[in-house]
Amino acid sequence: MLILQLYVALLLLLGAPLDTLLDREHGLPSWYDPGMREEAFDAWIALQGAAIDESIKTTLFSGYRSYEYQAVIYAREALKHKSGVNLYTARPGYSEHQLGTAIDVAWPGVGLGVHDPRNKRLYTWLAENAHIYGFVLSYPYKSAEVWPYHNRWMPVVTEYIHEPWHLRYVGVALAKKIYDAGYLDPASPVLPQHFYHPWP
Ligand code: DAL
Ligand code: ZN
Repeated sequence: MLILQLYVALLLLLGAPLDTLLDREHGLPSWYDPGMREEAFDAWIALQGAAIDESIKTTLFSGYRSYEYQAVIYAREALKHKSGVNLYTARPGYSEHQLGTAIDVAWPGVGLGVHDPRNKRLYTWLAENAHIYGFVLSYPYKSAEVWPYHNRWMPVVTEYIHEPWHLRYVGVALAKKIYDAGYLDPASPVLPQHFYHPWP
């Protein structure tokens, strides 16, 4: 028992690696609750500053989410969507938000979504600039996208809908590598998830 407690404490202390793979099959233990990771938050502040220099306003819509909070969100979204909720929201234990390195970004007062022109401008800017600050879009747009989809059948796309607002901090070097591999090209099969590894 003591060994287990020490193991848990050590994992929490070290934190999950920045390239931890989270998808429908690879999750995190429910007890893993690192809070917002400092390096990710600092990178967000830097990105926000760069955006405002170009008159692009940003607000943090969602940051760190615990296992328990993701369960609340999942239940709420399930009521909203009736079916297919897992295309929009990760099951508890499977969300990148539990890593403390993922953020959802929107124009202040607008909420998430691509319909508002202010958000469109913001998301276009994010796609092209986020990697400079160590972020990637976890769920980029792919032209093979059809509705609904699932990457067991269509390995070209992610397991969730296109989310131009969802950024994940992976560090500048890895973000640049993923960007340079052309992951934003709608016709390219490259996804950020190809660069990650399961943990622990
Ligand atoms: N919306 C993303 C997939 C999440 O719930 O983490
Ligand atoms: Zn998100």
